[in-house]
Amino acid sequence: MNRTHNNGELRIDNVGETVELKGWVAKKRNLGSLVFIDLRDRYGITQIIVNESMEVTKEIKNEYILHVKGKVVERSSKNPQMPTGDIEIEASQIDIINTANVTPIYTTDETDASEDARMQYRYLDLRRPVMQNKIMTRHQITRSIRHFLDEHDFIDIETPYLNRSTPEGARDFLVPSRVHNGEFYALPQSPQLFKQLLMVAGFERYYQIARCFRDEDLRADRQPEFTQVDVEMSFMNTDEIISIGEQMVAQVIKDVKGIDVKLPLPRMTWHDAMETYGIDKPDIRFDMKLVNLNETVKDVDFMVFKNALDNKGYVKGINVKNAADQYSRKKIDKLTDLAKTYKAKGLAWMKVVNGKAEGPIVKFFNEEQLTRLLDTMNGEDNDLLLFVSDVKYTVVCDALAALRNHLGKELKLYDPQELGLLWVVDFPMFEYDDETQRYYAMHHPFTRPKDSDIDKIDSDPAHCLADAYDIVLNGYELGGGSQRIYEQDLQERAFKALSLTPEQIENKFGWFVEALKYGTPPHGGFALGLDRLAMLLTGSDSIRDVIAFPKNASATCPMSKAPNKVDQVQLEELGIEVTKDENE
Ligand code: AMO
Ligand code: AMP
Repeated sequence: MNRTHNNGELRIDNVGETVELKGWVAKKRNLGSLVFIDLRDRYGITQIIVNESMEVTKEIKNEYILHVKGKVVERSSKNPQMPTGDIEIEASQIDIINTANVTPIYTTDETDASEDARMQYRYLDLRRPVMQNKIMTRHQITRSIRHFLDEHDFIDIETPYLNRSTPEGARDFLVPSRVHNGEFYALPQSPQLFKQLLMVAGFERYYQIARCFRDEDLRADRQPEFTQVDVEMSFMNTDEIISIGEQMVAQVIKDVKGIDVKLPLPRMTWHDAMETYGIDKPDIRFDMKLVNLNETVKDVDFMVFKNALDNKGYVKGINVKNAADQYSRKKIDKLTDLAKTYKAKGLAWMKVVNGKAEGPIVKFFNEEQLTRLLDTMNGEDNDLLLFVSDVKYTVVCDALAALRNHLGKELKLYDPQELGLLWVVDFPMFEYDDETQRYYAMHHPFTRPKDSDIDKIDSDPAHCLADAYDIVLNGYELGGGSQRIYEQDLQERAFKALSLTPEQIENKFGWFVEALKYGTPPHGGFALGLDRLAMLLTGSDSIRDVIAFPKNASATCPMSKAPNKVDQVQLEELGIEVTKDENE
């Protein structure tokens, strides 16, 4: 029992050869006395043709595994869509290697199965050629990354999964210790501290394709366990680190898509990204920039705007070019609902018709104010102008950024094949939280301020910029990184800005801070979300499509039914008692 070729291999030149193939039955159909079978494996599909008189054909059903022996012949009706479409195999012998029950989901590219059904039978879902291609593309991506990093002298080093919690801002997954009852390991949110310690240890260039664990609410681009291409290097300035990062991404895109990415990538400051796109991960494939209207509408007697401006708030707008006729009241109501999910209190709008603004809020403007507004927003015939005002900058930005992304997609304002890559740089070091009235690290507490801003770490934390950068692709945060603090005293000042007490510092990161005392080189790095990169390069809507066995939106596995209850004995060994059970 052997095979001479795979199912994607045979061409017209092979006509006349006797071959042996193996694979799954993708399709079987009868045409008079002839039976046609599509035989599938990972490489493709080959058509088998066999006379009904061969006994075994009656038994063959979809997803049976066959061993076919036969002769390659030229097809009379060729199929140009298939690489093997010029030929078929006239079977002289067929053996059934294994049978299969009727599958609960189709194993063809097209499927009407729900995502949960697909996940429950993931091994069947993964038989679908589209899914196999996605998983294989992911493999090409990792291979290309490993090759690039190897060529650039990076060393692949593994770091622990079981450790004390690493602060990355999300909630930890905890693992109870059997040996030390009452104590817990935390699964790493990223290898951040360990990779820094590898720099202290002198490895100079490290990488790891590392699994990371974060207990956060899931979205299309978020999983509780996901993979980072984690990179760290010593003695490199920020431009050099960014250059390594973008060369790597460009190499992957070249290897996987055959596209040349023009380097260096554009860079935008965080401040400009927020001002003009309302978001720190702008989709730069289309325009529709946010316009600040605080000056323009400051004397307009529209309470919604006035209330915001009187309370040091903001009014911003976007111009949806040449789309007014496509947005009825009803559709604008839908946009309003979207804005409201981002905490906006409403959505004000105008349409430009025959050079004049129209709409319910026009009455609050005088002629001069309207002219000024249309000028500022470049309002021309058939433009739809949308406005959000709020006392909170983030509400205005979030709502308009979400509308912009939604409209860009709905109005097809970009070519989906285009790649919008850029770096967002100069992030603030800290974010202030009104509730707890303290600063939090925007990145993580080991991020270094920009050299020019080092003193602001104590004197003006609100305006202290970090030497941190994110790489953005098509409106997704693909990765991020920073230079790290390598001096003990600066690290202490950073902790102080975060209002951490010496006890908290000792308890959380004492083991790490200790290392800074023994000759720590300047170092920095980044981590790319591998799942997100694979999602974007395969044109998938969710990272679940590029993960062989993902969790669903409620963080469960429909196939294995994880998470699950465990035996009482296991709990006792761990010294754990369950006090809350959601099923009771
Ligand atoms: P950060 O937290 O920005 O940085 O993560 C880096 C990248 O990982 C991806 N990512 C995720 N992908 C899928 N599901 C998730 N839940 C998820 N969370 C993050 C994103 C993100 O850009 N240690 C730092 C990196 C560094 O400073 O070197 C870190 O983890 O694509
Ligand atoms: P109202 O005065 O509440 O009837 O609102 C008049 C218009 O302004 C409606 O189209 C509302 O959707 C819109 N609107 C209300 N609050 C805001 C806001 N914060 N920003 C922008 N538009 C708003």
